[in-house]
Amino acid sequence: MSVYKNVKHITTHVLQNMKSIGEKISMLTAYDYSTAKIIDAAGIDVILVGDSASNVMAGHQSTLPITLNEMIYHASSVVRAVRRALIVVDLPFGTYQGNSKEALSSAIRIMKETGAHAIKIEGGEEIKESIIRILSAGIPVMGHLGLTPQSIHKFGTYSVRAKEEEEALKLLNDAILLQETGCFGLVLEKIPAKLAAKVTAQLKIPTIGIGAGPNVDGQVLVFHDMMGITQEFSPRFLRRYHNLYNEIYNSVQSYISDVKSKDFPNEKEQY
Ligand code: KIV
Repeated sequence: MSVYKNVKHITTHVLQNMKSIGEKISMLTAYDYSTAKIIDAAGIDVILVGDSASNVMAGHQSTLPITLNEMIYHASSVVRAVRRALIVVDLPFGTYQGNSKEALSSAIRIMKETGAHAIKIEGGEEIKESIIRILSAGIPVMGHLGLTPQSIHKFGTYSVRAKEEEEALKLLNDAILLQETGCFGLVLEKIPAKLAAKVTAQLKIPTIGIGAGPNVDGQVLVFHDMMGITQEFSPRFLRRYHNLYNEIYNSVQSYISDVKSKDFPNEKEQY
């Protein structure tokens, strides 16, 4: 188990210490109060209010449509539930790429209106100014490199990134730049395991992988994917811990049948 299991609050410093002693960091997404409460009570280190809410909660095809107001709604719900985990919130598409002042005001809205502890932002060199400005306001920033879903229309597919040397070198340079800029951690999404291991070995800040192999400092999955609620999404890196889709489906069918057959409510289930 964790050396830090009795720590009252997971902070960015605790994550840094975990990397130093080689303890892996656990991270999952949550977008609502009830789920966040369970995940936090179970002892997760980091909760990500990801812009994957755009797909998972709202049914969009990509993460692009979700708005800052919607992210703030999800993040505030999560914050109300969590006692221990570090809560990181994605800055959604279109709220930080324009200019660094806009990026700062988006990050400030998240911190002020939700009570979360940090923000996450996709990209490297291109968004350096935004990261510097957000950090200068005392807001912890997590980076995100590799398959950055907000750039899906540039990539064209959700396949593995940085397989070629040129892109791998840019990713490594971006990772170093994010560390030097002051990011406290870095998500590495869907890149070759060897590259993720190399980046992790070169950085002092923790890396959290999703489809990036075992030699990173922690792992993140989308809660709805690992619990088998989403069915259509089945990448190689995903380990499913449950088949909640079937569980919910069968329970709903039992309920319908109980209502139709007048079995529900029974004598004890009424006043
Ligand atoms: O939005 C999200 O859920 C993410 C994770 C996949 C890392 O960014």
